[in-house]
Amino acid sequence: MRKKTLPAGVVQKLMRSAKSVMKNAHAPYSHFRVGAAILLTNGKVFPGCNVENASYGMTNCAERTAIFSAVAQLGSKIEIRAVAVANAQGVPCSPCGACRQVIYEFGPDATIYFQGAHGLKQAHITELLPEGFRLQ
Ligand code: THU
Repeated sequence: MRKKTLPAGVVQKLMRSAKSVMKNAHAPYSHFRVGAAILLTNGKVFPGCNVENASYGMTNCAERTAIFSAVAQLGSKIEIRAVAVANAQGVPCSPCGACRQVIYEFGPDATIYFQGAHGLKQAHITELLPEGFRLQ
């Protein structure tokens, strides 16, 4: 499996951005605040937080908020190099299945950093999402 490690300083900066945006989360139902930051191959960073809804299924995860924000600003030609995910409770939290598929759409070679059971974990998107879907 491909391992595409970023320099420690870059990961740190991405994590800081993910942690910082947690404060903007709208999580009155789960009380689980999540922040994400994506690093694009052009060097730009976009943060996002989870935005819940009284109709629970309408909730948008932090990862997708960050990605949709980048697309809204730069268009769909973006390429995601890395994603960092943080949560206010410091518990293990990897991207959900839906977010993995959305990350794959814009970052088929992306590296994901998230809280695992024993600290920060790193995984290639294809480790988290084998056989990701692509429309030919
Ligand atoms: N959540 C995220 O934003 N990202 C994840 O990686 C896992 C889950 C959010 C969705 C919901 O607002 C809350 O966490 C509880 O599931």
